Amino acid sequence: MYALPQLNDYSPATLDRAAAELVSACGSEAQQVNSDATYKAFRDRWLARKNGILTQVNDLWLKAAPREAKKDVGARVNALKVKVEETVAVAEQRAKGGTAAARASAERVDVTLPGIRRPIGVEHPVTRTMNEIVAVFKAMGYSVGEGPEIETDYYNFESLNFPPNHPARDTQDTIFIAGQESKPQRDRLLLRTHTSPVQIRSMERQPPPVRIVIPGKVHRNDAADASHSPIFHQVEGLAVDTNITFCDLKGTLDHAMKSLFGSSVKTRFYPSFFPFTEPSADVQISCFKCGGTGRLNANEGCRLCKYSGWIELLGCGMVDPNVYGFVKENGYDPDKISGFAFGMGVERIAMLKYGIDDIQLFYHGDVRFLEQFA
Ligand code: DAH
Repeated sequence: MYALPQLNDYSPATLDRAAAELVSACGSEAQQVNSDATYKAFRDRWLARKNGILTQVNDLWLKAAPREAKKDVGARVNALKVKVEETVAVAEQRAKGGTAAARASAERVDVTLPGIRRPIGVEHPVTRTMNEIVAVFKAMGYSVGEGPEIETDYYNFESLNFPPNHPARDTQDTIFIAGQESKPQRDRLLLRTHTSPVQIRSMERQPPPVRIVIPGKVHRNDAADASHSPIFHQVEGLAVDTNITFCDLKGTLDHAMKSLFGSSVKTRFYPSFFPFTEPSADVQISCFKCGGTGRLNANEGCRLCKYSGWIELLGCGMVDPNVYGFVKENGYDPDKISGFAFGMGVERIAMLKYGIDDIQLFYHGDVRFLEQFA
């Protein structure tokens, strides 16, 4: 890199040569300027008051010149100064213009580039399963209803034929809203333990016939583990009309299970008890993993169905005449009409359909889990 030489003599020839070298060095350094930063370095190297090359020219050439040469050297130094300042100004223009041009080209919109893809969310597997269940019944002519999650004792229990203090209430570990003691028991609030209260609400709103499915969230005072969650989802169903029989119930649920799990599954109706249905049944489907044999092969049993070949899936039954008693003013006369009801756990069905072994996975919001349903 150029360094200002000391002058040995002050003859016009020496001065001309030294000046020409300096101007040429400044010019070729100016060529290297291509950004704000290189421009500033260049400018300071030549113009800085402290030890810039022009300052050195003053000190090394002008001040050191013998008196008789001072006038000539001074004129030359002034000319050099003008030249260097000009060169710096041109370099500055280039640096600024260059970066502006670079920016403009970087910002230019290339309309042929693909857009920025935003990941599109998908239905949560619980929502998806719930919608699938609902769709199966919609296709059979059912309407869809909803009800409140904060319920009264009346709708959650009493009108479903759970009398006060009846032990069947204990099977539903209920979360009660605090501070309700001053109210009559039927008005006390709780978090609904099942979607069944919407059966009564639907019959209050609509005289028979009804065919309705009710998806929704329910709450129980259960500790969370691989198969329990204090909050989960159910789909309730209710069909009331003249001449509805247990055969209709069996046919409807058999069709629904085949729609959900494949046409080769069989259903079995196993005697059970619910206060609001009589008779009541648990529906079991033949195990779709082992084909109902309880064994995967000669050496290995089928754990999915606990080696039985059957998987218990939902509760159902014929609506108990006592339940109609709570809505008889709306046309529900047990001597004239009959109906069936059913209720199923959405998470349980989703776990079976997708082979999920821990219910908690639904609630963690872990994208690695959820992505698998995209
Ligand atoms: N409500 C019941 C439960 O949460 C499920 C159920 C069983 C609903 C039988 C029904 C039914 O409608 O008929 O365990």
